[in-house]
Amino acid sequence: MSTERTPRKLHVVTHGCQMNVYDSARMTDLLRPLGYETVATPEGADMVILNTCHIRERAEEKVFSQLGRLRLMKEAQGGQMMIAVTGCVAQAEGEILAKRAPFVDLVVGPQAYHRLPELIAQAHRKTGAVIDTDFPAEQKFDHLPDDAAPQGVISFLSIQEGCDKFCSFCVVPYTRGAEASRPAGGVIAEARRMVASGAREIALLGQNVNAYHGEGPDGHVWSLTRLLQSLSEIEGLERIRYTTSHPNDMADELIAAHRDNAKLMPFLHLPVQSGSDKILRAMNRKHKADDFRRIVDQLRDARPDMALSSDFIVGHPGESDTDFTETMELVRETGFALAYSFKYSPRPGTPAASLPQVEEAVKDARLQELQALLRAQQNEFNAGTVGLETPVLFTGAGRHPGQIAGRSLWLQPVVVQHDRDLAGQIRMVKITGANPNSLSGTLLDKELIAA
Ligand code: SAH
Ligand code: SF4
Ligand code: F3S
Repeated sequence: MSTERTPRKLHVVTHGCQMNVYDSARMTDLLRPLGYETVATPEGADMVILNTCHIRERAEEKVFSQLGRLRLMKEAQGGQMMIAVTGCVAQAEGEILAKRAPFVDLVVGPQAYHRLPELIAQAHRKTGAVIDTDFPAEQKFDHLPDDAAPQGVISFLSIQEGCDKFCSFCVVPYTRGAEASRPAGGVIAEARRMVASGAREIALLGQNVNAYHGEGPDGHVWSLTRLLQSLSEIEGLERIRYTTSHPNDMADELIAAHRDNAKLMPFLHLPVQSGSDKILRAMNRKHKADDFRRIVDQLRDARPDMALSSDFIVGHPGESDTDFTETMELVRETGFALAYSFKYSPRPGTPAASLPQVEEAVKDARLQELQALLRAQQNEFNAGTVGLETPVLFTGAGRHPGQIAGRSLWLQPVVVQHDRDLAGQIRMVKITGANPNSLSGTLLDKELIAA
């Protein structure tokens, strides 16, 4: 096996959500002991991993166009480039992908990538693609190495995967499998390692992270609230976030934690998708618009500076003008700091895909209208922070010389003119200006805030 230790170039391309970003980092960790070193471009790479997303049609198209370019590169290298497709397209389209792109060597689903070293060895022995899209009984997390490369001041940690909710429009339950939570002990150990290597903020990740119910070190099932409590006891960890949450799993104790747990940040991504009860029912969301309103009120009672982010879909099958108006109303009433909105994209195998579809032009018009409102709210929220004296966690250098950059309590990027590197420190900053996607501020000297 000594040949496996000669340095090899690995290029990883990541699409999709933060969980894919986390997975890409873990795949890199797995391959490092085999001699793979990451490189910034695919040219000349011995191995390219395309970690894919299947959530909307556009995401999938991107994969195939990128594969087209990789094929040419592989040919130019005389076939000396192993191409692996991982992630949600691999899971959903495994066989089709191998047929449509026969130059792909490996197709590995999101639950099977801990087997990569073994699969690579198989691919070296075999012509044609090696496909592993199993949902193995063993949890991949138990089989990943402990020596993850440091991610930085803000680090992401997957604690839960998969989804049992089966929203009418969504591929995730098919690509990521059933909901599963990592045991709390492993999560805490990984968080400690992250903090020891410089993390000051950790964002816990899961498709439905607030449904977390992992086995605790005490043998009991731990909720997300219980896990957050333990994590907040880690010295040196200053800020904790979690994403993405589902309204139905927003337990009272979790809402209360936003009041009681000072390390929990006052910013929450809580996708609602629509403001129409009829459409929420069609989406199989199992909650009404008023349930969302109630949760938002409770969160703001618990933490008055709580800011919200959300996801919206326009043009789900059956969405009328009235339904869309109800979405606009919900947005107007709630006031979001940030939001992502999408045109409904029919996904193969999902229930909504086989229903009569809303016209494309109607979807376009609704998306524009919604995005204009959401953009205005985002600008208003950012503008509202001008004049505040607020703690900023610095992460590193800014884009321009003499600038340092960090994040506000509400995850807004903050840029400050300063010549010293304050990465990893929380300092009080006076916010002096707001742009659409970032804030500028000045350091308030001497105040060094601990949390
Ligand atoms: N687990 C999260 C979100 C997962 S996907 C949740 O429950 O909310 C991220 C977002 O993509 C979703 O919130 C939804 O707004 C959007 N999305 C998912 N499937 C989609 C589809 N078929 N068409 C358009 N947008 C979609
Ligand atoms: Fe998809 Fe719904 Fe599950 Fe979120 S809760 S991942 S939108 S099925
Ligand atoms: Fe995409 Fe899979 Fe994440 S479909 S959004 S990469 S869970």
